[in-house]
Amino acid sequence: MIGKDLAQAKQLLEAGQLVAIPTETVYGLAGNALDEQAVLEIFRVKNRPAFDPLIVHTDSFERIADFVREIPEKALLLAQHLMPGALTLLLPKSDLIPDLVTSGLDRVAVRIPNHSLTRSLLSSLPFPLAAPSANPFGYISPTTARHVEQQLGSQIPYILDGGPCEVGLESTIVGFENDEPVIYRKGGMAIETIERLVGKVRVQAHSSSNPLAPGMLKSHYAPRTPLQLVERLQLPVTNHQSPVNRVGILSFQTNYGAEYQEILSPTGDVSEAARHLFAAMRRLDQLGLDVIYAELVPDEGLGKAINDRLKRAAV
Ligand code: TXA
Ligand code: MG
Repeated sequence: MIGKDLAQAKQLLEAGQLVAIPTETVYGLAGNALDEQAVLEIFRVKNRPAFDPLIVHTDSFERIADFVREIPEKALLLAQHLMPGALTLLLPKSDLIPDLVTSGLDRVAVRIPNHSLTRSLLSSLPFPLAAPSANPFGYISPTTARHVEQQLGSQIPYILDGGPCEVGLESTIVGFENDEPVIYRKGGMAIETIERLVGKVRVQAHSSSNPLAPGMLKSHYAPRTPLQLVERLQLPVTNHQSPVNRVGILSFQTNYGAEYQEILSPTGDVSEAARHLFAAMRRLDQLGLDVIYAELVPDEGLGKAINDRLKRAAV
């Protein structure tokens, strides 16, 4: 069921059940992070491999201190300026966090979402929420309550509706090596914003052999329809279309006049494009097309994370 009833969401979570929650990045599939049964249920519903750890969500930085053993200086700086927000920090975990949540790793991912409904919910609960994106493993993350309902609706008792996500991309994940920040997943917090606070950061967001995080796997966040990346589409796009191929277009700014097309930001704004990306990919995916041609966007601000997701979605 979809609704806006905070009391019901709280009651279900306190009873060990799962609730889908809105955040500014994407919707999450939440359960009590300190309850192993609830955590197992998250892995089961998402069909997620047990080696892929979960992010722990809370409402204040003071509470994060209970879940971690130490906080490097630059982590503190990022937290002070960018939390709540689309930023996840990987920090050495305390014993309070079950090993199941971190898949046995020594670090826990922590985040304070910037969404008023979910922050109220988190403040009302005596425990933090473990929450991966509320999609089946490997598919596109949901940015509306309806997206969650379409795929997981029959498996969870409640979806808290907080409207469409304002950022639209998963959080940027930052870990620390010798106390220096390293980006493990590009996301809804622009690298430029992070670098203004802590100086140049290393990006280690690509790994196919031994990923620290499956969000780093090359094929992830993918639609079912084959998606091909193009530098720039040729006009008119209909010339691409042979009678046997039904083609969809995912463009940044340009209207190609194609029959099946999504334009991410007619004004050419990468943040607007980020907000629309996943919903647009889902709409095209539902048309049963033979192929989607997608254009890369300008590689600046959130454009870097959009291009990262497009590359991972591509065949
Ligand atoms: O914006 C977001 O981050 C959303 C919302 C719901 O908060 N959540 C999200 O969760 O995207 P998920 O589970 O779909 O992606 C989390 C990524 C995964 O790739 C996971 O492997 C990585 O974070 N991760 C979580 N804990 C980790 C840890 N202890 N060490 C390394 N990577 C970790
Ligand atoms: Mg995910």
